[in-house]
Amino acid sequence: MPAIAFLECSRCHQHVSADAPQTVCPACAGSLYVRYDLNELALTATRPACSAVDSMWRYASVLPDVDPVTLGEGWTPLLQSRRYSGLFLKEEANNPTGSFKARGMAMAVSMARHYGLKKLAAPSAGNAASALAAYAAAAGIEAHIFMPRDVPMANYLEGQAYGAHVTLVDGLISDCGRLVAEGAKREGWFDVSTLKEPFRVEGKKTMGYELVEQLRWSYPDAVFYPTGGGVGLIGMWKAFDEMEQLGWVTGPRPKMIAVQASGCAPVARAWKEGASASKMFDNAATFAAGLRVPKPYGDAIILEIVRHSGGTVIDIPDDRILASLLDYAQHEGLFLCPEGAAATAAYDELLASGFLKPEDRVVLFNTGSGLKYIDAIADAMHLTRPTQKQYPQRTPVGGIIIPQ
Ligand SMILES: Cc1ncc(COP(=O)(O)O)c(C=O)c1O
Ligand SMILES: [Zn+2]
Repeated sequence: MPAIAFLECSRCHQHVSADAPQTVCPACAGSLYVRYDLNELALTATRPACSAVDSMWRYASVLPDVDPVTLGEGWTPLLQSRRYSGLFLKEEANNPTGSFKARGMAMAVSMARHYGLKKLAAPSAGNAASALAAYAAAAGIEAHIFMPRDVPMANYLEGQAYGAHVTLVDGLISDCGRLVAEGAKREGWFDVSTLKEPFRVEGKKTMGYELVEQLRWSYPDAVFYPTGGGVGLIGMWKAFDEMEQLGWVTGPRPKMIAVQASGCAPVARAWKEGASASKMFDNAATFAAGLRVPKPYGDAIILEIVRHSGGTVIDIPDDRILASLLDYAQHEGLFLCPEGAAATAAYDELLASGFLKPEDRVVLFNTGSGLKYIDAIADAMHLTRPTQKQYPQRTPVGGIIIPQ
């Protein structure tokens, strides 16, 4: 594991020491990236052997030198679609707490323990809270979590079960973020909000390493990523930078496709307007809870990456997200989370528009398990459990069976 050389501001490029815990750039409040001496690392770090550990820590040679708090996160399957030979689904449901948020929180909590931090806090659309609660419990650290009141039940339950301090807020994740910032000042919590500390990106970058390794050290043509705060997309782009500098991969980078829900699409709107940052998206509403981020902190970085990659930002309405979710359940045996189903619906749309061709090699992130959303999905399907012995009617609509 390499020593961290310094932390670098994503906006003004100022260097900050990693000897003490850091949040954002002290000069401009930009997000901080972890930097290593990659020239030196290129001489010593090698691609992981086939026999390397079956978790994200197989990339220990490009992660901070720390004793990991691990629950077995990462090294998730890359499943080829049964219907589209060019499409590969990165199945993040297999992570601890059922979502890709495990990767970022494993890294952030490992570093928090390394720094001796005792109290962590975060706002969350849901799955980040579950992951923080689990890793904090494993590390013996206190977790303070703020979530919108209508967060999926699983996330609320996990927070409680793992023993976190859970506050449900009448508002959105942006309101939760304000409460965390106030509490951090008042109570001395360390704020592990998305992109307001350097290590969640560092954990999530392993998704970029993995997909390249699983494609035999080559890039796909496109990567679809359901984008709320955008941490995974930003992390993967960082991974591609590093892998190229280490000589682990060459070739044109994938088009990065950021997918949002139409009910909360600040980045998609900025993209359409050609803006370099997003504006607050009013009345944000979607059952893809992880995409309900009305003003992502890293919006400018997301837009720049998408532009640079030749990708696009696309938003999908909830009814089409649900249709795609049922489509993949019924034709591929995969119970996607709504965020993942936004990406599969976006794939269909970009094939139909000709932006992508069926033979293009595409990696699409299913960022979590549909099982985390049973209340929201049942609601969207208008599905209630029959109270008496009943045989539900099943009506095929366009090849998709809608239970009634
Ligand atoms: C299942 C799921 N997918 C996607 C996202 C969005 O992630 P990011 O903030 O990295 O864009 C979230 C965030 O909560 C999520 O829970
Ligand atoms: Zn700065």
